[in-house]
Amino acid sequence: MDNRPIGFLDSGVGGLTVVKELIRQLPHEEIVYIGDSARAPYGPRPADQIREYTWQLVKFLLTKNVKMIVFACNTATAVAWEEIKAALDIPVLGVILPGSSAAIKVTQGKKLGVIATPMTISSDIYRQKVQLLDPQVEVISMACPKFVPLVESNQTQSSIAKKVVYETLAPLVGKVDTLILGCTHYPLLRPIIQNVMGPEVALIDSGAETVRDISVLLNYFEINRSREAKAKNDYFYTTAGVTSFQEMAESWLGKAICVEQINLEEVLHESSDL
Ligand code: DGL
Repeated sequence: MDNRPIGFLDSGVGGLTVVKELIRQLPHEEIVYIGDSARAPYGPRPADQIREYTWQLVKFLLTKNVKMIVFACNTATAVAWEEIKAALDIPVLGVILPGSSAAIKVTQGKKLGVIATPMTISSDIYRQKVQLLDPQVEVISMACPKFVPLVESNQTQSSIAKKVVYETLAPLVGKVDTLILGCTHYPLLRPIIQNVMGPEVALIDSGAETVRDISVLLNYFEINRSREAKAKNDYFYTTAGVTSFQEMAESWLGKAICVEQINLEEVLHESSDL
């Protein structure tokens, strides 16, 4: 047993789609979440910068004494997961492998679409992972740089969002039977994406798939939180203003949460042992 929290990181509110699933599947696990909304989106940034920011988020989570870190962000997973996983002595999970293996189980016609940020698409990591598992699967990839700013500005149901999603995804319609939502922000646009793609297209939420792996690892390392532990306190941190994050988070998670704004550089400067 290990009663310490699980740490989640994302460039902003997208990782909450993973947290929502964690709360559904593993409600007794305690959560520490850091969303770097002040510097979102990560997707269009150069790889070195994404790596530097991701390390900062990881170091912040380590100051919270987490027992496991989940990269609830495909972009950070594509760029920095291998390196950071190798450097830490606690389990570190990414969202890309779980999403890839779920998609190959679901696709009937072996025609798979992947939508993600520019960095995740240019890394080509989904195609590589999917075709490693099943070389017969054809993968069509598409970067959707306009989606994350829509989500971060809480416009997930606006007419602008509908127009942008429709125009962006039009070239994919009719070409794939399964579509990986390769960015954790995208499940917040899921109803619009499903509407544009059509009801017969299966949407794969990489984040939700990741929670199954979290559960497996907790069992494997025997680090589940004890059912007898004291009542848990989940903490959510953002690098931007609290109001907008809290509004989106509470509406998405369907419950009140505790949110604090932090200055990452200050916090990391104070924790000199890291
Ligand atoms: N939610 C993240 C992802 O899964 C990052 C989006 C971004 O900041 O561009 O890729």
